[in-house]
Amino acid sequence: MAESDWRRVDDYIRDRLIPADPALDAAQTAAAAAGLPAIEVSPTQGKLLQLLALIAGARRILEIGTLAGYSTIWLARGLAPGGRLVTLEADPHHAAVARSNLAAAGLADVVEVREGPALDSLLGLEGPFDLVFIDADKRNNPNYLDWALRLSRPGTVIVCDNVVRRGRITDPENAEGDVTGTRALFDRMAAEPRLDATALQTVGAKGWDGFVLAVVR
Ligand SMILES: C[S@@+](CC[C@H](N)C(=O)[O-])C[C@H]1O[C@@H](n2cnc3c(N)ncnc32)[C@H](O)[C@@H]1O
Repeated sequence: MAESDWRRVDDYIRDRLIPADPALDAAQTAAAAAGLPAIEVSPTQGKLLQLLALIAGARRILEIGTLAGYSTIWLARGLAPGGRLVTLEADPHHAAVARSNLAAAGLADVVEVREGPALDSLLGLEGPFDLVFIDADKRNNPNYLDWALRLSRPGTVIVCDNVVRRGRITDPENAEGDVTGTRALFDRMAAEPRLDATALQTVGAKGWDGFVLAVVR
């Protein structure tokens, strides 16, 4: 199996289950035009985030790592009526592109983009959130998990992206910050009695990776 096979199947799924969406397409186009890296979730993953928000009946969502607001739009569209989303982004250029994309998607009044290092922004937030999506600097994953728990209630859903890293998490020789941060996330989850968690490996348009899915008891 090659990456082209994974991409072809992702395209098949997208063509059948995920109708083209002008706001999401425009957000990706604007991100590319503004020189942002194409490291957003794939359409199938974005739709999964939206479904998780819908299943959770989320009224308050916290996202850590905005980029151009692509996953933010997916999540915001899964909010219950009257719900709100806060998304945290360290890079001012990314935050500006995201604000513009969110406004174009009609979500300016639903989403707040907080600019600055997430660990600073988190200090100013009050919980509980119904769903937390962690997708920023992976070395801080254990810190973000701690914050997600602090800002949670029983039933809060926590999702953390990119936890497989093309299998690098199980390479004992690998001591890169994103890998050690993600291993620390797994260790903290394993030791945390308040969490029920699993992780799923994924292949698709974004290669081989995976995400953690957890619920707070
Ligand atoms: C993988 S991208 C987010 C992708 C986005 N969730 C999506 O799928 O559309 C990670 C983002 O986190 C931001 N970031 C990195 N370190 C950060 C930090 N310490 N605090 C807040 N944001 C950070 C990066 O600038 C980047 O925009």
